[in-house]
Amino acid sequence: MDTFKKYCFFIFPFCIFVIIAFGLAAIKDSNYVYLDFTPIQNETKTSLKVNESFGENQTDWKIIYDEVKLRTEIENIHNRSYIIKDGDKCRKDVPDLMIVGVAKCGTRELIDFMSIHPWIIAKNNPYQINSKYFGGKNSYKIITDKMPCKYHDQINVLKADAFLTQYSKPEELYNMNPNMKIIAIIREPIARLKSHLSFRPSANVSKTVIETTDRFIKFIKGKRTSKSYNKMLLLSTYDVGLERYLKVFRRDQVLVIESTEFMKNPITVLKKVEHLLGIEPFNWDKYFILNKQKGFYCIRKVKKVMKTMVCYNSNRGRKDPSEIIDAEHMERLCDYFKPHNENLFRLIGRRFDW
Ligand SMILES: *[C@@H]1O[C@H](CO)[C@@H](O)[C@H](O)[C@H]1NC(C)=O
Ligand SMILES: *[C@@H]1O[C@H](CO)[C@@H](O)[C@H](O)[C@H]1NC(C)=O
Ligand SMILES: *[C@@H]1O[C@H](CO)[C@@H](O)[C@H](O)[C@H]1NC(C)=O
Ligand SMILES: *[C@@H]1O[C@H](CO)[C@@H](O)[C@H](O)[C@H]1NC(C)=O
Ligand SMILES: *[C@@H]1O[C@H](CO)[C@@H](O)[C@H](O)[C@H]1NC(C)=O
Repeated sequence: MDTFKKYCFFIFPFCIFVIIAFGLAAIKDSNYVYLDFTPIQNETKTSLKVNESFGENQTDWKIIYDEVKLRTEIENIHNRSYIIKDGDKCRKDVPDLMIVGVAKCGTRELIDFMSIHPWIIAKNNPYQINSKYFGGKNSYKIITDKMPCKYHDQINVLKADAFLTQYSKPEELYNMNPNMKIIAIIREPIARLKSHLSFRPSANVSKTVIETTDRFIKFIKGKRTSKSYNKMLLLSTYDVGLERYLKVFRRDQVLVIESTEFMKNPITVLKKVEHLLGIEPFNWDKYFILNKQKGFYCIRKVKKVMKTMVCYNSNRGRKDPSEIIDAEHMERLCDYFKPHNENLFRLIGRRFDW
């Protein structure tokens, strides 16, 4: 009987209290959940017009692997789809959308593909602006001058591959345009690191990778190492940068995209981008096609009588040096990134399969 009383009068109410407290904490925490997982309206209805199953070859298709031609095709579609309103004049302005990184996560592909949309204006070459132009006294004018001309309903976009982790950037961007939208495209941090490393020209990639991972480990242990290597490592600690952006920008101004998701389903991601920017939905299905031999998406030339698709060069990126990083180094790197990943998942309110 005593146990029962104890249960009724002490433990049970205590449990209720705990449940309520956790519930409130969860509601409070959900304020830190960002647009990334906002359900896209009618998302389930997105049906690709291609048969998604792999392995089947597309022998009756002409496949062109050429980045320059791909961009020209994108520009063609963009130009064809935009109708200039009577009396509208194009003008230059500071960026409406900033892709703040991260290098080696597909920022280029993202900006290329999104600029198919008639309302999205990306200056082709260069997309990047040197970070030294930001934050200075004349930055507003300098950046405006460098932007492409846009019509009143268009969104101009700029990318800077390292801005996510650069300390002063959120404030500088906010001061330039408080309504700016921010996109970060990220990928599993060690994969990003390897890709970044393998991109460095070196006579002996395996040697460089071993040296570099040694430096990473020293850095993690708090020892002094070369700055550029530390920067490379820090570029993969996405949570640190994102936290700063979210202190400055509203959460509905910030979108985090996972690189693999973007490659696997660019249309779903581009719909999220439309939602972020508040622009009219575009008929992406018409232009994207899955290259079944390579397993990535290409752009379909719609007007051609012959079935033609234009793709990125299939050898974009270089050899994955993963086999060179030994078990001990990998373990250290995993340990280092684990808490950062967890913090990132908490910030965006969803987990990635990393
Ligand atoms: C979603 O689908 C419904 C039914 O087909 C349609 O009425 C509605 O306008 C759609 N919403 C959007 C945002 O496309
Ligand atoms: C897609 O392709 C697979 C394999 O070639 C085939 O079995 C399947 O029926 C196709 N699906 C559709 C909807 O055409
Ligand atoms: C592709 O398919 C065609 C016919 O379906 C076949 O003749 C050809 O050998 C296949 N090519 C490859 C590379 O699998
Ligand atoms: C698209 O339009 C812009 C601006 O009018 C022009 O500079 C560019 O050459 C056009 N691109 C293509 C591929 O026609
Ligand atoms: C590259 O470096 C690795 C590790 O230091 C070494 O084992 C290998 O022999 C080197 N390869 C060449 C071609 O120098």
